[in-house]
Amino acid sequence: MRKKITIVGSGNVGATAAHWMASKELGDIVLIDIIPGVPQGKGLDLLEAMPIEKRDSFVLGTEDYKDTANSDIVVITAGIPRKPGMSRDDLLNTNYKIMQDVVGKVVTHSPNSILIVVSNPLDAMAQAAYKISGFSRNRVIGMAGVLDSARFRAFIAMELGVSVENVTAFVLGGHGDTMVPLPRYSTVAGVPITELMEKSTIERLVQRTRDGGAEIVKYLKTGSAYYAPSAAVTEMVEAIIKDKKKILPCAAYLEGEYGIHGLFVGVPCKLGARGIEDVWEIRLTDEEMAALKKSADAVKELVSVVGV
Ligand SMILES: NC(=O)c1ccc[n+]([C@@H]2O[C@H](COP(=O)([O-])OP(=O)(O)OC[C@H]3O[C@@H](n4cnc5c(N)ncnc54)[C@H](O)[C@@H]3O)[C@@H](O)[C@H]2O)c1
Repeated sequence: MRKKITIVGSGNVGATAAHWMASKELGDIVLIDIIPGVPQGKGLDLLEAMPIEKRDSFVLGTEDYKDTANSDIVVITAGIPRKPGMSRDDLLNTNYKIMQDVVGKVVTHSPNSILIVVSNPLDAMAQAAYKISGFSRNRVIGMAGVLDSARFRAFIAMELGVSVENVTAFVLGGHGDTMVPLPRYSTVAGVPITELMEKSTIERLVQRTRDGGAEIVKYLKTGSAYYAPSAAVTEMVEAIIKDKKKILPCAAYLEGEYGIHGLFVGVPCKLGARGIEDVWEIRLTDEEMAALKKSADAVKELVSVVGV
């Protein structure tokens, strides 16, 4: 049986994620939204591309949660994106209300699914989805670190003039200004970038990574990034569907790892058929640990506003 993937929110991130997933033939895809006709139109359009792409992914657009029944994975992209001058945190109250609406319906129709949250502010929305769903912690995952690391990797590859395939990078912490890129664990062909670039160059790339979302919002003016975010969530879906046991930075509900309790924070996770199958506790310097704690405190402040 093909896997069933539901994507809630058929806007920029949701529809583009459907595009990546269908073109990789990860499963059958259901696109859902509250705007009448939009998921149906985009779904049908994508379905009609499948003969050209030679992919047997069935794509359905709908406003009815019945069509999402028994999904294996549900990706939640519903919510408003940032506009210039806004921080991700400014989206908190609006997107929390949307999360309350969406998660209950998702859980009713797909009680055994794995949830991947994309809506911002990411860590707080993942925490909301976790609390509302009542799912075990391995089945609620936030997407941020794969995107933030991809941005860092792209900047490293451009700076050194090397293939992006050679570059690995880790960005931990919350998806916000306090994210924690880890140069020591970021490599080119296995060589740490700390051996390849001046400290000041690394700091410049780290700052560009931190501001990566805002840089794109500033250009677009009416919305935020969606090609890289949707590619990032697709990598996570693929790791789960193919049971790849892939180590990826994801927002996970921590229960003591890194000394953090009861909070979603970005950490290295092993993704496989059961969702988050392991959280890796890598050794951090005092400075890195302090940055991670600061990032966790920022998440804590947000979740306390909405009481999750
Ligand atoms: N985690 C990340 O790294 C990351 C990256 C990019 C975007 N985002 C976030 O993802 C979200 C979506 O971004 P986008 O660019 O696709 O926005 P968008 O406005 O293009 O699409 C959002 C869609 O959600 C739909 N929606 C709203 N309420 C809904 C509900 N109750 N049920 C179903 N659908 C509903 C809207 O109708 C819209 O079509 C935003 O919150 C954005 O900040 C997160």
